[in-house]
Amino acid sequence: CGIVACIIKDEASTVLLECVRRLEYRGYDSVGIATLSEDLYIKKGEGKIDEVQEKIVLTDIPGNMGIAQVRWATHGLPTGKNAHPHTDCQKRIAVVHNGIIENYKEIKNSLIDEGHIFVSDTDTEVIPHLIEKYMDMGNGLEVATRMTTKDIKGSYAIAAISADEPDKIIGVRKESPLIVGVGEKEFFIASDVPAVLDHTNKIIYLNDNEMVILTADGVIVKDDEGKVLEKEIETIEWTSDMAKKGGYKHFMLKEIHEQPEVVKNTLMEYSEIEKVVQNFSDFKRVCFVACGTSYHASLVGKYLFETLLGIPTDVILSSEFIFSEPSLDSDTLVIFISQSGETADTLKALKVANKKSETLVIVNVLGSTATREANHVIYSRAGPEIGVAATKTYVSQLVCIYLLVIALSDDKKLLEEIKKVPDRMKSAIEDEEHIIEIAKKYKDATDFFFIGRGFSYPTALEGSLKLKEITYIHGEGYAAGELKHGPLALIDDDVPVLAVVPPGQSHDKTLGNIEEVKARGASVIAVGSSEDTVLRSEAHDFIGFEADITEMISPIPYVVPLQLLSYHISVERGIDPDKPKNLAKCVTVE
Ligand code: G6P
Repeated sequence: CGIVACIIKDEASTVLLECVRRLEYRGYDSVGIATLSEDLYIKKGEGKIDEVQEKIVLTDIPGNMGIAQVRWATHGLPTGKNAHPHTDCQKRIAVVHNGIIENYKEIKNSLIDEGHIFVSDTDTEVIPHLIEKYMDMGNGLEVATRMTTKDIKGSYAIAAISADEPDKIIGVRKESPLIVGVGEKEFFIASDVPAVLDHTNKIIYLNDNEMVILTADGVIVKDDEGKVLEKEIETIEWTSDMAKKGGYKHFMLKEIHEQPEVVKNTLMEYSEIEKVVQNFSDFKRVCFVACGTSYHASLVGKYLFETLLGIPTDVILSSEFIFSEPSLDSDTLVIFISQSGETADTLKALKVANKKSETLVIVNVLGSTATREANHVIYSRAGPEIGVAATKTYVSQLVCIYLLVIALSDDKKLLEEIKKVPDRMKSAIEDEEHIIEIAKKYKDATDFFFIGRGFSYPTALEGSLKLKEITYIHGEGYAAGELKHGPLALIDDDVPVLAVVPPGQSHDKTLGNIEEVKARGASVIAVGSSEDTVLRSEAHDFIGFEADITEMISPIPYVVPLQLLSYHISVERGIDPDKPKNLAKCVTVE
């Protein structure tokens, strides 16, 4: 979910809608706005922002302050009644929330016993009712909200307003992101920076258990006892244009096209990465921890650390990491990869690792929670990524991992090889028409396999994940050598197989696997060197890269045609690739 709140000079509802639109990548099950003038006004509904706006016009409510939310459902169906903002019994208080209130059932039951009436199935609704209860005891909105946070367990970023105090907005966070935007007599709270970039690039990052009080005169940040805190206002480099589509049909397409530039920008981080490395203690083992696409970047990290540095390396899913805790020690460097720096599974794992080992986080969002928890931080410099399916953040994470290994090994030859990558990526992007043809050919497939060995195995996994996420076609990413141990039984002439086969050590063996699937009737789409005449002749469809891209470096450019293929299949199937169903870009619940 994404939340925003603002106090501005003009009508708030239009600005709130614009801000919340920038957070739509965080959820799009429902949307709602509450504003305050003489009274409290609320509009909300089920569906994507544009659909709801068309149906019920969210922006015709008055007032120069308000709160808004886009929702990714956790408790309660994504219906209009469960949409935020939620209110108290007297409809004097409105609250938007991102996170999960774990003890909401017991709170709800005791509030019902006290006479409170609930109208939704959400965990959030207990918050306005608790605030109401404490305001009814004679407390102001600020104190009542602070008392509420002492009752609730779980994760939350909350913004609250009350018709009884129409001069302020209260924001508070614990384990869910919340930033404060400080403009010219305009003040904002938001789940993420892109929401406010049209208005300000002056940001205060809130820590857990900190509360912000917004008024027309400014912002005050307090701790959980109500003590005023001195907070730094940071000026950030991202611009609002970076978070807009800039003429592309979708954010995802724009972000795929930005990748050559992203690789160049991330390469400029090398000297920073060298500095970070100098601060590492000695380590004998590396453990990568991540989810989703970041997990696939981590897998490339394993191949690099083991082949180039000979350091035993594990890759563990964040949600499974707790089971590895006993094996952690001070000789282990635990590397967390997360584009958002806010994924709940990853943050929980980071807390566990911090107790026993040195931790490094590779992250794209400045000031995100992970950057404040880890011992060391590397920024991936992809710029804001809005499309739910990660693309440019993936390649920037990869570049960071390569640079990290180069800094640790001093293998400058590899650095020279990466410098070629932006140009090779450009050629892949220029080949887009060819990929559109392939997308049209395979768009009606119901199952797809992606295979590769060694450095190409994570690429196969990532290609398959992209396909699943945005086309809703069932995809399986497999280590090519493992096909014969089970999934070969699923291959027939209805199942296309995409094989990632750069020149190098695993080339010939993967070629053998291509023979196996062809013998079972599969159509093969191969990605490899343009000079690889054997591969070209074996494949039904072929996507070529220049021959100087070696197997070791291939994960960075070779993912590009796979992203484009999924993107175009998605568009061919009439799906919005920026907003795949049931998914959110940043998942702040476990
Ligand atoms: C979500 C997104 C994925 C992403 C994963 C990890 O599930 O939909 O695209 O890879 O979270 O996100 P992170 O921000 O930690 O990289």
